[in-house]
Amino acid sequence: MNADLLVVGSGLFGLTVAERAANDLGLNVVVIDRRHHIGGNAYSEPEAQTGIEVHRYGAHLFHTSNERVWNYVNQFTGFTNYVHKVYTNHHGIVYPMPVNLHTINQFFNAAYSPSEARQLIAEQAAELEGKEPENFVEKGISLIGRPLYEAFIMHYTAKQWQTDPEQLPASIISRLPVRYNYDNRYFNDTWEGLPVDGYTAWFERMVDHPRIEVKLDTDFFDDAQPFSKGAAAGQVPVVYTGPVDRYFDFEAGELGWRTIDLEEEVLPIEDFQGTSVMNYPDADVPYTRIHEFRHFHPERSYTKDATVIMREYSRFAEKGDEPYYPINTDADRAGLLAYRDLARAESNVLFGGRLGTYKYLDMHMAIGSALSMVDNKLRPHFTEGARLE
Ligand code: FAD
Ligand code: NA
Repeated sequence: MNADLLVVGSGLFGLTVAERAANDLGLNVVVIDRRHHIGGNAYSEPEAQTGIEVHRYGAHLFHTSNERVWNYVNQFTGFTNYVHKVYTNHHGIVYPMPVNLHTINQFFNAAYSPSEARQLIAEQAAELEGKEPENFVEKGISLIGRPLYEAFIMHYTAKQWQTDPEQLPASIISRLPVRYNYDNRYFNDTWEGLPVDGYTAWFERMVDHPRIEVKLDTDFFDDAQPFSKGAAAGQVPVVYTGPVDRYFDFEAGELGWRTIDLEEEVLPIEDFQGTSVMNYPDADVPYTRIHEFRHFHPERSYTKDATVIMREYSRFAEKGDEPYYPINTDADRAGLLAYRDLARAESNVLFGGRLGTYKYLDMHMAIGSALSMVDNKLRPHFTEGARLE
């Protein structure tokens, strides 16, 4: 093998490491991915019948306040001026999210000022009279009061966790943002937007380099291929971004994840819901939200004859499902600590990314964390001979 570095996984973490290693450190890099495409969960492609760009693993919105990350990604793509907004359909009425003064006034049929609304919600949140919340329901009430909590949060979260709200621990929410103004921008970050030519064009530019070789449909645990765990061991430094428990053959147990099911439909109409994301927070609707992809790119001249929607359902992941969101039970946290020790002791292998660290990371966090790994681990190793650990 004439690679200086093997990167397992071509999600944004792996792509960033590979790009910096080739361009900045001058290394020959092999990137493998067991899927048929690069980009990990942020991958998108044109839907076959309509040409509308769909995000294959759930809607992805880029946003960041990290200037280094923003400058870095702008080397590979421009971003549109798309501003993400979310609405929610409760009992057949549509409200803006996250809960803001518009939501409150619409819900209570009122015209409260910011201070009146603040006082109302504080009174409603005082229902528990200072008693320590014992479960998720009590916690939610203590944060935003029963009426808003039951309408917009309680069943939505219960659907995400497929669990009766009374049975969910208080710890899954620590805060519920309420905005006492009419700002309904979903993200608070300095920069946001969608890649002008789509996610895949962005990712392809990151690995468009003579010192980077990408091998798709290639599993690190398939010993029949030359860049496997068995073949690489001790031969070449590895940055591994797959599941950390799988790397160690689950010796400290399986870490729990939630997954989502996406049900795609092409409808013979121009516009289904008038916006990109509509939440469904009621118990009697089985899905959590519907995405309509044309609305992510209002600047494009997509067909007017059809539109693509995706209904999203949430559930616990089983073997073979895509792991999406860490569950983080006490057992998961204990397992993770054991895996961190094993990972540290594994010489010549660095663990990174969402799956390699069992941590939900937004795209900008995955990129920022990969840039730090290059600074703090790879550069000292390749330029000064520091141990890779
Ligand atoms: P991944 O993208 O998961 O990439 C890991 C790669 O490793 C995969 O391609 C996988 O096939 C590969 N791999 C795993 N095991 C092996 C193996 N044995 N051999 C070879 N290859 C292997 N972020 C945002 O900023 N905005 C959003 O709106 C947003 N929405 C999201 C919605 C969902 C449903 C999810 C799950 C995530 C969302 N994210 C969003 C997060 C974003 O997807 C992550 O930041 C990104 O996936 C992290 O990149 P990564 O490289 O760590 O992991
Ligand atoms: Na290590």
